[in-house]
Amino acid sequence: MRAWGISSPRWHASNIGKKITLAVLALLFALGPMAASAASPRINYLLHCSGCHLPGGEGAPPNVPTMHDVLGRMMAVPQMRSYLVRVPGSAQSALSDTDLTAVVNWVLTEFNAKTLPADFEPLTRDEVATARKSILADPLKYRIQHWRNYGED
Ligand code: HEC
Repeated sequence: MRAWGISSPRWHASNIGKKITLAVLALLFALGPMAASAASPRINYLLHCSGCHLPGGEGAPPNVPTMHDVLGRMMAVPQMRSYLVRVPGSAQSALSDTDLTAVVNWVLTEFNAKTLPADFEPLTRDEVATARKSILADPLKYRIQHWRNYGED
């Protein structure tokens, strides 16, 4: 039987294993602060919403609505608060309830500050968690029923 020397395959395998473990630990350590900042609403908007609504929120009307000004005006109507997280893009995003709440409140203050009602209260996590379960099958129908058609707001 051959002794396990420096050139034996087994020695290499275990040494590579250790190196990989160390590399993974180093990577996790380095990514820690990044993972924390990835939870910021701006980053989450960029990751989960901007693919369609664009980084600046202007969207591509008439197919993808703008995130500017209109949403603030809508907030005067109680049924339209839940609408923001019942549209499929919001409701079905991979964001947690807490992160989706933060993103929608961020969209309202970032892109709709001028049009928000003076007595506007930010959406709560519980409100969002409940609302997003009732995904709107026909967002446009709901929008017209409780608010207005695109371009009329
Ligand atoms: C795959 C493309 C896509 C993604 C991703 C997406 N949306 Fe949308 N969004 C749309 C479309 C299209 C509409 C129009 C309604 C519909 O057909 O769903 C819409 C409508 C909306 C509306 C209603 C606007 C209005 O004027 O009626 C809001 C609010 C909204 N999205 C927010 C979000 C948020 C927040 C995210 C990220 C968490 C997001 N969307 C991700 C495509 C998308």
